[in-house]
Amino acid sequence: MIKREHWGSRLGFILAAAGSAVGLGNIWKFPYMAGENGGGAFLLIYLALVFTIGLSVMLAEMVIGRMAEKNAIGAFAKLKGGVWPLVGFCGVAAAFIILSFYSVVAGWTISYMVKSITGALAIEDPAALGSIFGGFISDPVSPLIYHALFMALTIFVVLAGVGSGIERASKILMPALFALLLILIVRSVTLPGAGEGIAFLLSPDFSKVTWTTVSEALSQAFFSLSLGMGAMITYGSYLSKKENIASSAGWVTLLDTSVAVMAGLLILPAVFAFGFDPSAGPGLTFITLPAVFAHMPMGSVFAFMFFLLLGIAALTSAVSILEVVVAYFVDDRGISRKSASIVVGVIIFLLGIPSSLSLGIMGEFTIFGLGFFDLMDYISSKLLLPIGGLFISLFVGWVVWGKAKEDIAAHNGVVPGWINAWGIIVKFIAPLAIAFILLKGLGVL
Ligand code: PHE
Repeated sequence: MIKREHWGSRLGFILAAAGSAVGLGNIWKFPYMAGENGGGAFLLIYLALVFTIGLSVMLAEMVIGRMAEKNAIGAFAKLKGGVWPLVGFCGVAAAFIILSFYSVVAGWTISYMVKSITGALAIEDPAALGSIFGGFISDPVSPLIYHALFMALTIFVVLAGVGSGIERASKILMPALFALLLILIVRSVTLPGAGEGIAFLLSPDFSKVTWTTVSEALSQAFFSLSLGMGAMITYGSYLSKKENIASSAGWVTLLDTSVAVMAGLLILPAVFAFGFDPSAGPGLTFITLPAVFAHMPMGSVFAFMFFLLLGIAALTSAVSILEVVVAYFVDDRGISRKSASIVVGVIIFLLGIPSSLSLGIMGEFTIFGLGFFDLMDYISSKLLLPIGGLFISLFVGWVVWGKAKEDIAAHNGVVPGWINAWGIIVKFIAPLAIAFILLKGLGVL
């Protein structure tokens, strides 16, 4: 048997896994969700869920991957078999679905990089920017070209392999991402009037909180931490036994959450400083923010930096989603990495087409009252990821608990004192809480 490839270093793994976690979910979704759901109250609920359920499922996924040294489906098959590989199958299905619409949005960021260079966004009026955005995303051709371009970049990285593709790209792109983020935050919080935006994010207004808010926060936590579909199982499968897996899981969770909060601190103060509406929804980063930049000296430079930041964050996440599927075909179907990356990448591109068209010419076509794009988002983040997380917790808590404990201690032979707390979360708290919040969110309870 060929020995499984390992990450070149601990830092390489943490950056790759953080690259997976930090994405459009943090910079595009999190600020507008906080904006729509009461700011600080949403943040508090989100943080509580991330550091209990999120962190525990993150560790559970990485442990499954490292114990099995296999892709998301193969890992369940190797560790237990029976019906368990179905959890991995759902994950692979979720990967197809998520990447198909994720790449469409990521394509928008490339187009907006171009638009900021050409000066097309140097307009102060959000209404005019709104029609530019609306016109662009409903166009039948142009977003598809950028979607294709983004998928090609993603395929290019995954095709190059774990060490020379994914790890290498993460080591270059993640530091660049942090640098851009810092520059933009300093710019945003030093704007006159920024304090109101900071207060909005940090002071909770519980009057807006309902069960829907909690269920939004949970699905956002899963999406943002890349949990529930086996991305962390796959990345964990390339992790050596010498690494302290729990501390790595902690770092990745902390980095992801810090970037979400930082993105909030980047976007909301700027939005408030110019008197715009924080609950502008998905258009917040593509409509409101360009208007904010247009008001600043050197605005197009900042606009370009912002969309570059968004594009980089999206790329390292997209790579991890494609890798979930590719690792399965390489490990279990004997297909070469090159063919698997290209074929799967092209299929995902095709699946993304109706998502993109549903924002324009296919807008009338709805299933369960949702357009194709929204339906894909709903099925994956509202259903597949939380359900995946639920079964991953049960699997670690009840099926492989003894081995999982050993795996946590593999680097130094010492079982840590918090192991039973983690056990209680994965055995009881996470599955019950996820099931409860899911049913509440769906209106069943
Ligand atoms: N975590 C990524 C983001 O926040 C998206 C993602 C979801 C990546 C699921 C992998 C798995 O954008």
